[in-house]
Formats: sequence, C-alpha cells, structure tokens
Amino acid sequence: MFAKSLVTAALLANAALTAAKLSPISAVGSKFFNGNGDQFFMKGIAYQLTPADPLIDTEQCQRDASLMKTLGANAIRVYHVDPNGDHTGCMTAFADAGIYLLVDLDTFNTAIDPIVASWNQTQFDAYAKVMDAFAKYDNTLGYFVGNEVIALNNQSEAATYVKAAARDLKAYRKSKGYREIPVGYSAADIAELRPMLQNYLSCGSNASESIDMFGLNAYEWCGDVNMQTSGYDTLNEFASTYNVPIFFSETGCITARPRTFADQSAILGPEMNKLWSGAIVYEWIAEANDYGLISYGPPVSATVTGANIEGGFSRAGTPTPVSPDFSNLQAQWKTLTPTGVASSAYKPTLTPPPCPASTAGGWLVDGDVKLPSVGQTQQVKPTGSNSETATATGTATGTAASPSSTKGSANGGKEITGMGVGLVAVMLGFMYWL
Ligand SMILES: *[C@@H]1O[C@H](CO)[C@@H](O)[C@H](O)[C@H]1NC(C)=O
Ligand SMILES: *[C@@H]1O[C@H](CO)[C@@H](O)[C@H](O)[C@H]1NC(C)=O
Ligand SMILES: *[C@@H]1O[C@H](CO)[C@@H](O)[C@H](O)[C@H]1NC(C)=O
Repeated sequence: MFAKSLVTAALLANAALTAAKLSPISAVGSKFFNGNGDQFFMKGIAYQLTPADPLIDTEQCQRDASLMKTLGANAIRVYHVDPNGDHTGCMTAFADAGIYLLVDLDTFNTAIDPIVASWNQTQFDAYAKVMDAFAKYDNTLGYFVGNEVIALNNQSEAATYVKAAARDLKAYRKSKGYREIPVGYSAADIAELRPMLQNYLSCGSNASESIDMFGLNAYEWCGDVNMQTSGYDTLNEFASTYNVPIFFSETGCITARPRTFADQSAILGPEMNKLWSGAIVYEWIAEANDYGLISYGPPVSATVTGANIEGGFSRAGTPTPVSPDFSNLQAQWKTLTPTGVASSAYKPTLTPPPCPASTAGGWLVDGDVKLPSVGQTQQVKPTGSNSETATATGTATGTAASPSSTKGSANGGKEITGMGVGLVAVMLGFMYWL
C-alpha cells in the first residue's frame, strides 16, 4: 500500500515535470504543431536588449519572461547570440513562461552580404555553432539563415546564397541527429519581389534544398486600416497556396500613436489564421527607434556610459510597460486564441510552388538555378549593365526595412540607433507605397 502510493506520487511528480516542459514545435505542411497535436500560432516579441546576446543573463530573462507571460506572448525572436555563452538559465526561464525562441544563425560578421554574396566555410561554421548551442532546448522553435539579406529588388540574386545556407544547415541538422527544428528566412517586404522571393525559397522537387518556414517583416498595417487598405489581402493571396508555414517575423507599425495592434486581430483572426501562423511584434525594449513595449528606465543622453546603458537607454533592470501600447497589445492577444486544426485531422496537400522565372527589373533569379556550393562568391552586377563594379550600398532602404538598432542589417550589421523615427516612418512609407 505504502509502496504503491510512493510509486503513484513519483508518477504524479513526473507528470508535473513533464507538464512544465514545453512541447517542441514542428513544421508539418504549411502549419506548426506542438507535440500534443495542437496547431501553434505565434504571439511573439522581438527581443534584443544588447547587440551581443540577450540570452545569458538569467535573472534578466526571468524578469522579462514573467512580464511577457502577463502580456500573453508565447515566442521571442532574438537576432544575435554568442554561441559560446551559457543559455540554459534564460531558455529555462522562457520555457517556464510558455515561451518559444526563434533565433537568427548569422552574426554581424557572418551575415550574407547582398552586394558581394558569398556562402563560405566561415559562415557555415558560425551558423552551425549557433544551431549546436540551441538544438538541445525543447523551446527552440526555429532558426533563420538570414534577416533581410535582400533589401532591394536588384539584390535578389543573393537569394541563391540564402537557399544554399538553408540547404547546408538542414543537412547539418540531420548529420547531428537534431530534432527537425525548422530552418527559414526572414524577409524584408519588397513589393516587386512578391511572391517570387518566398516562392523561390520553397520551390523545387528536393525538400532538402528549400526552407522549412518563411517569415515576412511587414509594417504595412498602420492606424485605422483594413485588409484592403493595408495591403494584407495581397499578402493573403500570396500565402494562399504556400506549402510551408508563413508568418510575420516582424510587424507593428508606429506611425499612428498610440499603437493599437489592430493588425493582430487580422493576422490571428479568421481573415488570416487559416494561412498564417501568427506574428512577432517589434520590439520589447524601448530604444531610439521608438518601437519599445517596455522600458528599463528613463532615457539618458546618448553619450552617457554606465553599466547596462547603451545608446541613451538602460538595457537591463525591471521592465516597465510603455503605456498604453503594452496593454493595447495585451488586450488584443487576450481575445485572439485561434485553435486552427488538429494535426490528426490535417493532411498537407500543398506542393512546392514553381520556381519563378526572372522578370525585367524585378526578380533576377531565373527558375530552379543550381545553388552555390560552399566557398562560392558572387558580385551582384548593376541591373542592365555588364560592369563588374557594384555601386549600391544597400543602406538606405535596407535600414528602412529593418527598424532595429541592434540586429545585423543587409550591409553587414551597421547599427541605426541614431536614426530618427520620422526618417524611419518616411522610409517605411516610401517602401509600402511602392
Ligand atoms: C566569408 O563571408 C563573410 C561574410 O560575407 C566574409 O566577411 C568573409 O571574409 C568570407 N571569408 C572567406 C574566407 O572568404
Ligand atoms: C536533395 O538535396 C540534397 C542536399 O543538396 C542532396 O544531398 C540529395 O542528393 C538531393 N536528392 C536528390 C534526390 O536529388
Ligand atoms: C539598386 O537599386 C538602388 C535603388 O533603386 C540603386 O540606388 C542602386 O544603384 C541599384 N544597384 C545596382 C547594383 O544596380
């Protein structure tokens, strides 16, 4: 009797432990599912407190994870990590709060450069190291092989390098016997490349050579708009036959204040949730770009230096919600709980899209071209000329599409902390007006 109840107690304790663990997410067809067979929709937050690695300070992660749980988040996106750091404390803190991680594999020095595109051993080794560092955590949701590598339509030839990176990291994942953690790309929203870029990355008859998921960084839903006036109906149209999970890897326009996050009810509601797997809202920390949902203290002069102060903002401490933006997002997410389809009832039928043909002045990759091998480099030529000299810097629109002060942009990680919000807004307006 006594022995039996001990066994029962042990079983119960074990069940409790298992329940506290987050069930790993996998990509099946065009959807994400957890291990219980429930469809997974991201309610995510971009989280990069410092350029180096926001996932090594356990106590900070615990404070942030706890408030994110209150907010209703179930995912974070981190752009840069140090693969040599110890991430267990932070990953546990986020898992305990029910939060998954999307992490970019590139670093400031190893991101694919769209002007002189390359995929070399140094890059591969660096990406693999980040994969190694996070493959062991059940709450690692996915990896990006690039963020906005292509920031202008005339850089679209670099897409072959992005796809080569996905191919090789997927092969590496397999060789190491890791769980099939999805490998994808996070794209700048460039009207002339829709839907060619997303289709190219998932096209072809060999699934080992295409992405497992596609993230779009889109800031088109500003203020009082709807599916039509925001352009989201167009995004829906291009997602309607997409064969792998597609989601917003950054979103959250700031041109209309306060932010109401009405886009969330479109993305997670009936208009889009049959096609899209949720969104990552940009971003957690308040800094110069003015997208922050919380702050760690009042801004100081940009020249002030001190522990955890950088670019005029505190980067650690107790997170204080930015009002009313934080509670507006919280209220949106509270009402949005799509259940989708159970994995047992889901039979994927969508096949990869055809590899798009090139178009004059637009998409520059013609069909299912041979992917570069490791060590290959390509100088992107100016459109319509044979000159070997690349003249573009990719900076202006590249940064407009990347309103982050800490992540690597297409041009190798230039920071834009000093960039004025007005300028970002103007440039964003320009992009979406196209
Ligand atoms: C590999 O690519 C990176 C990123 O473009 C570049 O900085 C580096 O110099 C390249 N290394 C070699 C050995 O070609
Ligand atoms: C599919 O792609 C992988 C990675 O490039 C390659 O190893 C494999 O041979 C390809 N399979 C077929 C059937 O071509
Ligand atoms: C690419 O387009 C940009 C913006 O239109 C332009 O400034 C740049 O010169 C172009 N680059 C090339 C290589 O043609």
